[in-house]
Amino acid sequence: ADLISFIEGLPKAELHLHIEGTLEPELLFALAQRNNVSLPYASVEELRAAYAFTDLQSFLDLYYAGAAVLQTEQDFYDMTMAYIVRSRADNVRHAEIFFDPQTHTERGIAIEVVFAGIARALREARERHGFSSAIIMSFLRHLSEEDAFATLEAALPLRAEYRDLWIGIGLDSAERGNPPEKFARVFARCRELGFHLVAHAGEEGPPQYVKDALDVLHVERIDHGVRSEEDPVLMKRLAEQRIPLTVCPLSNLKLCVVDDMRKHNLARLLHAGLAVTVNSDDPAYFGGYMNANFLAVAASLRLSRTELVMLARNAFEATFLPAAAKQQLL
Ligand code: ADE
Ligand code: ZN
Repeated sequence: ADLISFIEGLPKAELHLHIEGTLEPELLFALAQRNNVSLPYASVEELRAAYAFTDLQSFLDLYYAGAAVLQTEQDFYDMTMAYIVRSRADNVRHAEIFFDPQTHTERGIAIEVVFAGIARALREARERHGFSSAIIMSFLRHLSEEDAFATLEAALPLRAEYRDLWIGIGLDSAERGNPPEKFARVFARCRELGFHLVAHAGEEGPPQYVKDALDVLHVERIDHGVRSEEDPVLMKRLAEQRIPLTVCPLSNLKLCVVDDMRKHNLARLLHAGLAVTVNSDDPAYFGGYMNANFLAVAASLRLSRTELVMLARNAFEATFLPAAAKQQLL
């Protein structure tokens, strides 16, 4: 209980969070009803029971199917606001949030609707509660680079309108077989445009994908990156350059990246001097928000309070906020 209140009290920044992954079964059902979308599940309980994954792809199939209930600006607002309420309860002060426009534009939802709903909730939270946030538009790597370019073109006219929020570009979805090089040109373009860059790498994919995310895509942070440990040279580089890793413990457990939390390498990565952070990834699907992720590693890996503070501080240091704004959040 003491450990729990210590974790609750820590101010946190979340850097690896897919907004579509915050859609709780209850809200998913409510939106399905509101939008007359039929679901292949009879109840919230039945849907939740389906959240038994064997790997990344088995999760992605359900996650993309679930996103079909999101139709209107209000739906995106409601989902985002629910995340904010939940995160504030976990003492999250700042969040850099991924969204996948292709998941929605593929279904005929206008990209303007996606931006508008998410942004309205985040701006409201900033004004009312001082909840700080930014958004990172992510490309789905199972789709083509051409499709990513088309998404970028569709989004760029919105850049001025969302200048206060839209800071970066990410890369997610099925990692194996979709290496960073596949997106070299579109990431080069995003770099020219002045966006911050991140990519999922080394979750299911090999350490080579982490290296290529750094050397080919020129990302500033690695999302997941846990398989970096298989390459000692890469480990040394990540430590020396203090390249942040946005690690997601409960996600790794649910997607069978590790089979037991006691075997998670988060503590080893931290002890090797890497800029490790703790994040929730897709909390509605993986069974916990920020405090639950902190608690899982604290208990299973017997982390000290100093280590927990270090993990939380690493996240503030790794944000894309200007230095002055970072200090203010602590
Ligand atoms: N999209 C949402 N969560 C993801 C994850 N953990 N890995 C890759 N793509 C994702
Ligand atoms: Zn992720």
